[in-house]
Amino acid sequence: MFQASGPDHDDFFAHRCILVNGPVIVGAGPSGLAVGAGLKGQGVPFVMLERADCIASLWQNRTYDRLKLHLPKQFCQLPNFPFPEEFPEYPTKYQFISYLESYAKQFNIKPHFNETVQSAKYDEIFGLWRVKTISTSSSDIPCQVEYICKWLVVATGENAEKVLPEFEGLQDFGGHVMHACDYKSGESFHGKRVLVVGCGNSGMEVSLDLCNHNASPSMVVRSSVHVLPREVLGRSTFELAATMMKRLPLWMVDKVLLLVSRLILGNVDRYGLKRPCLGPLQLKDTQGKTPVLDIGALEKIRSGKIKVVPGIKRFYSGKVELVNSEILEIDSVILATGYRSNVPSWLKENEFFTEDGIPKNPFPNGWKGNAGLYAVGFTRRGLSGASLDAMSVALDIAKSWKEDTMQKKKTVQARHRRCISHF
Ligand SMILES: Cc1cc2nc3c(=O)[nH]c(=O)nc-3n(C[C@H](O)[C@H](O)[C@H](O)COP(=O)(O)OP(=O)(O)OC[C@H]3O[C@@H](n4cnc5c(N)ncnc54)[C@H](O)[C@@H]3O)c2cc1C
Ligand SMILES: NC(=O)c1ccc[n+]([C@@H]2O[C@H](COP(=O)([O-])OP(=O)(O)OC[C@H]3O[C@@H](n4cnc5c(N)ncnc54)[C@H](OP(=O)(O)O)[C@@H]3O)[C@@H](O)[C@H]2O)c1
Repeated sequence: MFQASGPDHDDFFAHRCILVNGPVIVGAGPSGLAVGAGLKGQGVPFVMLERADCIASLWQNRTYDRLKLHLPKQFCQLPNFPFPEEFPEYPTKYQFISYLESYAKQFNIKPHFNETVQSAKYDEIFGLWRVKTISTSSSDIPCQVEYICKWLVVATGENAEKVLPEFEGLQDFGGHVMHACDYKSGESFHGKRVLVVGCGNSGMEVSLDLCNHNASPSMVVRSSVHVLPREVLGRSTFELAATMMKRLPLWMVDKVLLLVSRLILGNVDRYGLKRPCLGPLQLKDTQGKTPVLDIGALEKIRSGKIKVVPGIKRFYSGKVELVNSEILEIDSVILATGYRSNVPSWLKENEFFTEDGIPKNPFPNGWKGNAGLYAVGFTRRGLSGASLDAMSVALDIAKSWKEDTMQKKKTVQARHRRCISHF
């Protein structure tokens, strides 16, 4: 690595400059770690930048205590490192974090923590990426670094930032308002009336957890949702769908899933959970909307312990008015309103990524852009999609890095020969 410092003007040497022999990977979540492991296996050096102070910060800092992987473990493991035998079928978040820590240790991956990538831009003249970061550790004096590299791997995740919709009157509500990413457990909500906004997997599970802690959740379902059983006759619904998808078109798999769901869960429409017109897999494929895999919330909805309510009109002090004009008295609001990618805020590029920060090319062709740009973990296929991307990216970069290294060696040898011939 080459390091240089310089005066504060906008050229290569405006900040501390580090020339990286290999790719820069942005993000040390499962996707970044999986690429790192693949590159280690090929002997390719890299720098991994992470804004948080730990690996897998989504899992460590922004998830609730009761969270478990919602797919069986064989669909969630990263390349070349199976889950321990003794882990249950659906590992807890703590088991998953310990697995990821072992993964980083096994492949000797050492991210640069507390470094947020503020911008990344391809320099056409030099044919290199310029990646600017700022240190985010509270104990450090903020320090800017510029990494210069030939390959850039975007692994900042589909869920990098929370979505916080604006609601009329929320500023006058007066009670406790939080996003689901800050929710840990229902313990502190005992006896409270809580409005949970959103009915994705987060909204459903937070509502279930609140019930289990004797709170009274009302869950806002403003449009429609596909709820599926997590298992069918003891076999995971995901596995069943994956098997059927090998032989049947998506719409037909959807029909089977909906039929099976109806047999197992009954007609969820009558609880206020209207199903979308498109089937669950087609909806996921076209709009990225994840179906809910039920792990008990539906039972609480049936028994009335979770009240399903329509969209929000506005908030008042201690109250919310719904679109059907019903007024609910509430103590707290939990916004389970989802997440978004943050790529557009820092990657200065508009060919490969959409305005929403997702690669324009759909799976399985969304991992490679132009000029050494790569994306991992944006397939809307969770951890299994991230693993597939990571393997493709690591192989592709390794091939290119080896060619590049060979070329550099040849150039050095040629220069060396020229020097010798002068003496
Ligand atoms: C509550 C919840 C539960 C989930 N459960 C499952 C599940 O059971 N199964 C499943 O397959 N998927 C699940 N997912 C989806 C999950 O996000 C992914 O499976 C997985 O975490 C994706 O890994 P990733 O590395 O792509 O992204 P992330 O885990 O989000 O990691 C991205 C990393 O990039 C860092 N970063 C972001 N921006 C910057 C920046 N500018 N500079 C430096 N670093 C940056 C972040 O701090 C983060 O550490 C869940 C998601 C949520 C929110
Ligand atoms: N392992 C697990 O068990 C687990 C647990 C939680 C989350 N996850 C995963 O994490 C990812 C994110 O899930 P998520 O549930 O947090 O987000 P999500 O699936 O994006 O759901 C967001 C919800 O918020 C609603 N919403 C958004 N804005 C709203 C508004 N203004 N008013 C009312 N409702 C609003 C949406 O309704 P509309 O549909 O009408 O827009 C939707 O129901 C998913 O991939 C999910 O599978 C997994």
